[in-house]
Amino acid sequence: MRQEGTTISEDVIVSGIQPTGELHIGNYFGAIANWLHYQERYRSFFMIADLHAMTLPYQPEQLRSNTEQLAIDLAACGITPPRSTLFIQSLVPEHAELCWILGCVCSFGDLTRQTQFKEKSLPEGSDSPGRFISAGLFTYPVLQCADILAYHGTLVPVGKDQLQHLELTRDIVRRFNYLFGDYFREPQPLQTDAPKVMSLNDPERKMSKQNGARHYIGIFDDEGTIRSKIRSAVTDSGISEDGEMSEGVANLFRILNACGKNEQADQMIGEYRDGSRQYSKLKEAVSDALVEMAAPLRKRRQELMQDREYTLRKVRQMSLEARETACKTVAEVRRAVGLPAPMER
Ligand code: TRP
Repeated sequence: MRQEGTTISEDVIVSGIQPTGELHIGNYFGAIANWLHYQERYRSFFMIADLHAMTLPYQPEQLRSNTEQLAIDLAACGITPPRSTLFIQSLVPEHAELCWILGCVCSFGDLTRQTQFKEKSLPEGSDSPGRFISAGLFTYPVLQCADILAYHGTLVPVGKDQLQHLELTRDIVRRFNYLFGDYFREPQPLQTDAPKVMSLNDPERKMSKQNGARHYIGIFDDEGTIRSKIRSAVTDSGISEDGEMSEGVANLFRILNACGKNEQADQMIGEYRDGSRQYSKLKEAVSDALVEMAAPLRKRRQELMQDREYTLRKVRQMSLEARETACKTVAEVRRAVGLPAPMER
């Protein structure tokens, strides 16, 4: 795996995020904060993966409004041109076309071994699916592969849960190059030391919106909401009396560090080790740090919301730009695999 800082400028970053609702601090510290950093140094393509969001049951109107809102929210976070291309995946239909072609280069057996499919297709604790499982959920990693290869992405910032998908992408590249001649480069995962932020009220589980409002903090939450959610966060979940820091407390320290308050966190961890268990003080520090981080994002988002249409137009424009690159790739791929050249319209 390549280390940050040793890359050359020809690298292309590609990543995506699904429009499944409000952004929370887990998404922010886990992905977006890194994207902000990468877009300063690399050619970057960041997409709102609306096609991926269709793989589980969803409501059409909800998908459309989530997609638009995420476009505005990412812009509010600072994911903007000219540094990066922020676009909507489905506005580049070549992703779906490339997905088909790559699907014919991807082994069925490899797809059946994807653990994320197994997890998402089985309700927790059960070994039979309780609901409709789409074929899209099964081929999801091939679409992700197309997302990356359409832009000749070489570095892909992903979380641990996506590493297997990236490995599959590399398998597909090898097979494609073997069958049709060297064309794609194998993309590398770009893993950072991004903290894994856990649920506030169930700190054994990753922070997510699924479990209800008390489990996560939205990055645009107001001060009152942030303080009240942190106040009710679980600290001692009653697991250990042996001086081990409980997951809930460790999570609060992790959030404090993620907000850049390392000195304060170190000092408080020292106090904790010395036996002090002043959780209210820790919670106040975490709330202060989060409020400080969220306030400018909130303000920027409010500004952008005043002219939603303008921002959305810009994102559609960027999608067109992305499409130019993707079209060029697909035309070359079509030629390599024996399909007729695309017709001019
Ligand atoms: N599947 C990714 C996730 O849910 C999102 C995603 C879509 C993505 N396309 C991508 C990530 C391409 C990296 C590269 O987190």
